[in-house]
Amino acid sequence: MRTHRRRVLVTGAAGFMGSHLVDALVADGHLVFGVDDMSGGYWRNIHPESEFSVLDLRHREATEAYLRKARPEVIFHMAADATEGRSQFTPISSTERNYLAYLNVLVPAIREGLRKMVLISSMSVYGRQPAPFHEGMPRVPEDIYAIAKAAMEHATEILAKVHDFDYTIIRPHNVYGERQNIADPYRNVIGIFINRLLQGKDFFIYGDGEQKRAFSHIVDFTPYCLRAGFDDAANGEIFNIGPREEYSINQTARLVLKHFGYDPDDPPEAVRPRRLPPRPLEVRDAYCTLEKAQRLLGYRTTVSLDEGIRRMVAWAKELGPQPMRYLEGGLELTTGAPETWTRRLM
Ligand SMILES: NC(=O)c1ccc[n+]([C@@H]2O[C@H](COP(=O)([O-])OP(=O)(O)OC[C@H]3O[C@@H](n4cnc5c(N)ncnc54)[C@H](O)[C@@H]3O)[C@@H](O)[C@H]2O)c1
Repeated sequence: MRTHRRRVLVTGAAGFMGSHLVDALVADGHLVFGVDDMSGGYWRNIHPESEFSVLDLRHREATEAYLRKARPEVIFHMAADATEGRSQFTPISSTERNYLAYLNVLVPAIREGLRKMVLISSMSVYGRQPAPFHEGMPRVPEDIYAIAKAAMEHATEILAKVHDFDYTIIRPHNVYGERQNIADPYRNVIGIFINRLLQGKDFFIYGDGEQKRAFSHIVDFTPYCLRAGFDDAANGEIFNIGPREEYSINQTARLVLKHFGYDPDDPPEAVRPRRLPPRPLEVRDAYCTLEKAQRLLGYRTTVSLDEGIRRMVAWAKELGPQPMRYLEGGLELTTGAPETWTRRLM
């Protein structure tokens, strides 16, 4: 879809999904600003033709000063501490990096003439309601990360009504693919499996591994996110984005083993998945309806999980094994935390 050249800001631009979106925006000819505090991002992800600045969005004055200069017409808010499973053990920093950081961006942006906000939210806002989730279901967050995402969505709706800007809320599925942070021990299940196998080590499955997820390869996310920013049909709407096919964590593990050349039915002892107790509050099945994204954004799945994992493994082999990046300063609360985190097993 061709649009006029706009001043566009992507927060979290050095991260996985943010950097792919920057690429697409630059290719479409926009003037693209990117910010990231590099807590989970990488310099290698930054597009050389974007205007990139290191900025910690938790710092209100610095963020306000930045927005006065950049004056974006459209913002894609991707920056987050997306470690959902960890958020019960880091409730303060999760809220600061998610809800507070978002308001630090949104409020001055409104003052500087924001026209459109695309908020990247999460399926976690559906909580424990029965899958498939559809966009009309209420927000019933069940964990600290989801509380922040639900609050961000709700604040956007309220402020848009009062202050007259357009918005779209996107709730992605488990997105994976090239450039994903494979060194985050707290999230990105496929990335962790891959990084462990790159090191010739086994990986961990929480619970029985039969919990199901619908994984989206990044090429099946970015174009629809982009379109949501510029197509008026997306204004005021919430979209689930992700494929319909669900895979259990066990099935996913088998595919990763396969693309490393192992027999998934009988991998060598050294790389055989290890079972750990279930994580507190982990949602069992998380998949959603897609009818709205198909109708208004033209969504369709083009990359199967098998093919997506093949591509990601090929990329990760080029990158090589990565040392895990544990949270500086440790968890705020440790009771009940998985031992992979407290004992830094990876
Ligand atoms: N990947 C998924 O499966 C998935 C699923 C649902 C929702 N999301 C959402 O999509 C967005 C992007 O996720 P991702 O997978 O690309 O994660 P990511 O960690 O690769 O990207 C997030 C970026 O935000 C940056 N960031 C964190 N705190 C910041 C701060 N205070 N100031 C500035 N930058 C900060 C990090 O450095 C990182 O580069 C997030 O909002 C996440 O909640 C992701």
